[in-house]
Amino acid sequence: MSSAKAAGEIEDYSEPILEGKGGSDYERYLRTDELLSLQKTPEEQAHRDELLFQTVHQSSELWLKLASNETAEAAALVEREEIAGALRLLRRASLALQLITGQLDMLEQMSPWEYQEVRAVLGHGSGFDSPGFGALRRVVPTLGQAFSGLTLEELYVQGREHEELYQLAEALTELDERLMLWRVRHYKVVARIIGDEVVGTQGTPVELLGGLIKQTFFPELWAIRNRLTNRAIEEGAQ
Ligand code: HEM
Repeated sequence: MSSAKAAGEIEDYSEPILEGKGGSDYERYLRTDELLSLQKTPEEQAHRDELLFQTVHQSSELWLKLASNETAEAAALVEREEIAGALRLLRRASLALQLITGQLDMLEQMSPWEYQEVRAVLGHGSGFDSPGFGALRRVVPTLGQAFSGLTLEELYVQGREHEELYQLAEALTELDERLMLWRVRHYKVVARIIGDEVVGTQGTPVELLGGLIKQTFFPELWAIRNRLTNRAIEEGAQ
């Protein structure tokens, strides 16, 4: 889209043409003024690492928003039996989780002792209230209805005959695994920064986070692998 201009007039690319605040269309479209004012200023910070802490959390919320958005649309496509389109979106959701797992590394750049100064200004703030993680946790299970009418054992044994459904089952397993890997990594970051025998900012013992690592959204998709191994052993023994 370009601004209205007379025929033959040369467009001045240095001038913004979008509505909004900022001297360029880059800043107007991305709303960088607002985005970059969402972190505490140095004067407001209790410790300079608050910028690191807020950056990792705020960017995680954005990726989680994208992940839950794509997962919700994937669930709608699955309902309409448009599996290929759903697979495309589920790949994005899994990749978003991979990205936020990777960026947890940045938090380990903080000193455990200095982090106590950051922690002191978090109030009752807790990841249990993360809107992004909460939305994803609500939407992921809705995908599980995809396989009615076919047992998972049939689907996996005759995977080549149900190519798209097989790929969907694997995409859901991938998403589930990525969520678990985030939890494992998050648990280790927590243990490294505040310890694994203390309570969180909402009074939750950190041990409880260790227990959540095993939580799965699709237990049947994991159980089927045991069944397949046992079936292969049984059939081999005949
Ligand atoms: C220094 C870094 C971090 C520490 C010390 C930390 C600490 C904790 C603790 C102690 C809990 C248990 C609940 C509580 O009492 O607060 C928790 C839960 C949680 N945190 Fe963090 N966290 C950190 C970074 C992050 C980041 C970057 C995210 C990204 C969104 C995040 C998201 C969550 C979520 C979603 C939960 C709920 C866990 C679940 O349902 O499995 N945390 N965190």
